[in-house]
Amino acid sequence: MQIARTIDDMKAARRRMRGRVGLVPTMGYLHEGHLVLARNSNRDNKFTVASIFVNPTQFGPKEDFAKYPRDPDRDCALLEREKVDVVFMPPGEEMYPPGFNTWVDVAGVTERLEGAIRPGHFRGVATVCNKLFNIVDPHRAYFGQKDAQQVVVIKKMAKDLNMNLEIVVVPTVRENDGLAMSSRNVYLSPDQRKAAAVLHQSLSLAREMWRNGERRAERMRQAMTGLIRKEPLAGPIDYLSIADAETLEELEEVERPAVVSLAVRFGPTRLIDNITLP
Ligand code: PAJ
Repeated sequence: MQIARTIDDMKAARRRMRGRVGLVPTMGYLHEGHLVLARNSNRDNKFTVASIFVNPTQFGPKEDFAKYPRDPDRDCALLEREKVDVVFMPPGEEMYPPGFNTWVDVAGVTERLEGAIRPGHFRGVATVCNKLFNIVDPHRAYFGQKDAQQVVVIKKMAKDLNMNLEIVVVPTVRENDGLAMSSRNVYLSPDQRKAAAVLHQSLSLAREMWRNGERRAERMRQAMTGLIRKEPLAGPIDYLSIADAETLEELEEVERPAVVSLAVRFGPTRLIDNITLP
């Protein structure tokens, strides 16, 4: 497995690849959720490139960029086991040299949900993904359903800007109690970690209501909110949304494909999760 730390080295490695190339963009501190993306890419393509880059431009000034968990040696060992061909691991200045000043702004869908609470977040995500797509030039790029709005934004960017790659979405990988795997789960105390299972329970409740014929989104939101509020360690709910799967506009009636998504704080840690309906 090759480790490329400069854009030139990455491009040189890419030129030697004859056959389909899959890209798995990550910010590192890898867990099973990331590794499943790499496995999907390996299955679909001759070559797999994984990137590890904690992208400063997608963090707000009060967010956890400096203390975002990092363990590049462990990450590389895990990726090597998955038979990843190249890890692209650039330093910050390589991606954002002095004077960098071009941004990709996907309007509309980025203004809701995560975007409303984290202004500028999706501008950073779209910009870095566009850069990674240009540097690696993959046939396919792999993203997790865990970050549902990120998937919508990246697909929209690729479509609107006529990018020559396929965006592949992989289902969320969960712990035994249903908690979606996340690099940020390490911030949780043991009690918060236990309490965080309520997120998946509330999403499952929405699915159960839908299966039993409920279509009124507000009823579902109320039931989910009620369940979360019963958990003393779950605290403020940033949003709880039942929205159109493509536009992320809130629904009154769940009669078309929908994303049920939420963001809830457990102490200083903010967790997000979602399911799709049907
Ligand atoms: P990161 O949070 O490291 O996640 C990298 C990829 O792994 C994303 O596509 C994310 O949706 C996916 N992922 C994370 N947890 C998952 C889980 N439990 N199941 C399935 N997939 C999961 O998302 C980012 O990094 C960044 O925004 C990035 C796209 C790399 C741009 O900087």
